[in-house]
Amino acid sequence: MDKAPAKTGWAAWSAKKKATIISIIVVILVALGVGLGVGLHHGTGGEDEGNGGSGNGGTGTGGNGTTTGNGTVKWQPAVGVKWQIVLLGALNDTSVDADVYDIDLFDNNRTTISTLHDLGRKVICYFSAGTYEDWRPDAKQFDKADLGNALSEWRGEKWLNTNSDGVRKIMQTRLDMAVTKGCDGVDPDNIDAYDNSNGLKLTEDDAINYVNWLAGQAHGRNLSVGLKNGGSIIDNVLPNMQWSVNEQCAQYTECDTYAAFTDANKPVFHIEYPKGNDENNNKDVTTAQKSTACNAASAGNFSTVIKNMDLDSWVEYCS
Ligand SMILES: *[C@@H]1O[C@H](CO)[C@@H](O)[C@H](O)[C@H]1NC(C)=O
Ligand SMILES: *[C@@H]1O[C@H](CO)[C@@H](O)[C@H](O)[C@H]1NC(C)=O
Ligand SMILES: *[C@@H]1O[C@H](CO)[C@@H](O)[C@H](O)[C@H]1NC(C)=O
Ligand SMILES: *[C@@H]1O[C@H](CO)[C@@H](O)[C@H](O)[C@H]1NC(C)=O
Ligand SMILES: *[C@@H]1O[C@H](CO)[C@@H](O)[C@H](O)[C@H]1NC(C)=O
Ligand SMILES: *[C@@H]1O[C@H](CO)[C@@H](O)[C@H](O)[C@H]1NC(C)=O
Repeated sequence: MDKAPAKTGWAAWSAKKKATIISIIVVILVALGVGLGVGLHHGTGGEDEGNGGSGNGGTGTGGNGTTTGNGTVKWQPAVGVKWQIVLLGALNDTSVDADVYDIDLFDNNRTTISTLHDLGRKVICYFSAGTYEDWRPDAKQFDKADLGNALSEWRGEKWLNTNSDGVRKIMQTRLDMAVTKGCDGVDPDNIDAYDNSNGLKLTEDDAINYVNWLAGQAHGRNLSVGLKNGGSIIDNVLPNMQWSVNEQCAQYTECDTYAAFTDANKPVFHIEYPKGNDENNNKDVTTAQKSTACNAASAGNFSTVIKNMDLDSWVEYCS
């Protein structure tokens, strides 16, 4: 995906400083969690999802203000909420009046996220949880033995062995970074190695285990989390997810699969790319393209955006 080599303040800090900061945050979160967990547990439609660790975690449908096994509160966005996604470099346009922004975890700093918060927006931080990206500041930490096949369409990316302790440790550090930067949730991408020639024998079961593990790790840090694509594992992870991020379900006629989320009162953040691979510009799509993107069967309650494939700031909404 986007290549932005600039080191953030976080990346530039020493491991010791990071460890100290993380310990302080964990202590504060746990302390606050005990208080808030009691206070907010009986809020609107409160739902106790249990520990959300490995396995399916708790059951229950939708609702607001959920609590996790750690007693912390996580954020459950409502179905149909307006969103914007910008993954091409650092966000430099906050003018779109969307309730939720999905932006790159590494490329954006705490100031940008707090600016969005000041505008009343929630922030989801994107990172690749299932691929190695050679330009990221922590790329050197991956063990070569954990790298699988290259992704043919994305230069510098390889599938990761998501069962590896080393890989999971790096992802924990990324989640800590999301906390430090003030993200409300995370969008862990590329969890569907099973659908691709990954070179690591990764299966659907591996993906289920990994996604539920990520959810436990996110929830333990008071971060919400969603499933990116991964239609075939929805049933096995849905209770632990707060939303779906889907690409091209209208184009591939599979929005009914993702409607499992809206049926459970969880939004589907839906992206269509009617312009195709190569055309990234500020031109509106045609009426016919818009109709295809916006009127897919079962997608009536989705949060749909029409985007350029490079996921720059340009966006068009259905209405
Ligand atoms: C959460 O609560 C707000 C305000 O009470 C309501 O408008 C919204 O629809 C609720 N969201 C869900 C997912 O129930
Ligand atoms: C905003 O960011 C995009 C993507 O990185 C870049 O192409 C564009 O020039 C930037 N615009 C401004 C005004 O900085
Ligand atoms: C945060 O990011 C914005 C946008 O890229 C940049 O203008 C600003 O200088 C950065 N602030 C810090 C403290 O790094
Ligand atoms: C947990 O996250 C929610 C929503 O992002 C926030 O309102 C709340 O203050 C956070 N709680 C703690 C203990 O940090
Ligand atoms: C509780 O939070 C910690 C980090 O603060 C996390 O490591 C642990 O997995 C969480 N436990 C559960 C059950 O979510
Ligand atoms: C959207 O949600 C409403 C209220 O839950 C429901 O009645 C309707 O059938 C849903 N529409 C679609 C297309 O799923």
